[in-house]
Amino acid sequence: MNNLIDIMQMSTDELQELIDRAMDIIADPSKYAEACHGKKLATLFFEPSTRTRLSFEAAMYELGGNVIGFSEAASSSAAKGESVADTARTVGCYADIIAMRHPKEGAPLVASRKAGVPVINAGDGGHNHPTQTLADLLTIYREKGTFENLTVGLCGDLKFGRTVHSLICAMSRYPGVRFVLISPEELKVPRYLITDILEPANIPYEEVTSLEDAMPELDILYMTRVQRERFFNEADYLRLKDTYILTPEKLRSAKQSLSILHPLPRVNEISVAVDDDPRACYFKQVLNGKYMRMALILKLLEVNV
Ligand code: CP
Repeated sequence: MNNLIDIMQMSTDELQELIDRAMDIIADPSKYAEACHGKKLATLFFEPSTRTRLSFEAAMYELGGNVIGFSEAASSSAAKGESVADTARTVGCYADIIAMRHPKEGAPLVASRKAGVPVINAGDGGHNHPTQTLADLLTIYREKGTFENLTVGLCGDLKFGRTVHSLICAMSRYPGVRFVLISPEELKVPRYLITDILEPANIPYEEVTSLEDAMPELDILYMTRVQRERFFNEADYLRLKDTYILTPEKLRSAKQSLSILHPLPRVNEISVAVDDDPRACYFKQVLNGKYMRMALILKLLEVNV
């Protein structure tokens, strides 16, 4: 594997290898402090980001490497009309590895064909976000100790939520996983996830609208933000944005063993009063993202420690 564009490029064995590496980094970070000495990561972010960009940068610094890049399209030559392909080919002359976020689906794939160095998809439009899924998987692994026999509820904007799409694909390969897809009618998961991923593998799933009804059966609750930037119509966004707001009251019927995840940023969909609940894992998820990105950089650069 030279690039990470789609989480399905990685087998479950390869995912476990990354998780094991991340756990080793957590146990002994000093062992990795010079692993990428002399290497450069380029972060090419054509869309806003806090966690993904900064965790990639922190990951490379903690591996002893350096970072170059930009955090908005306006400060790159994309603003003058340069193509993604030419940008990637150019940056490949300066950096050893690239992490790219772009509003257009498929842009990191195009970049990977031209860069000449490994390219990581750091989120492409409403399509995929494989490194968020790495953070999600490490969080589930650390909380549950397994990926098997879990009922996973995904709630909110399942249509545009790229993290949801990548997580469904990744989790669909573990035995005994069941999905409860909780969304308004207008924000249901794209049909390809049902027809190409869930149904061919006979994975049990339900599409429902009530979070309260689903709550008692869930082992994982993955909340998501309604993605204002993907809506064509502001009125639709305003109508749908507060459909689901997780509160301590709504958690009364949940299992004590529930793990609450959210890729963040959050807007209103999880009340801050939930943050102190021991079941809230979303800030642990943020930190897990850095460790998994460290493990991924090591793998793609073929660094042995
Ligand atoms: N989860 C995530 O992708 O967050 P950022 O948009 O802040 O990178």
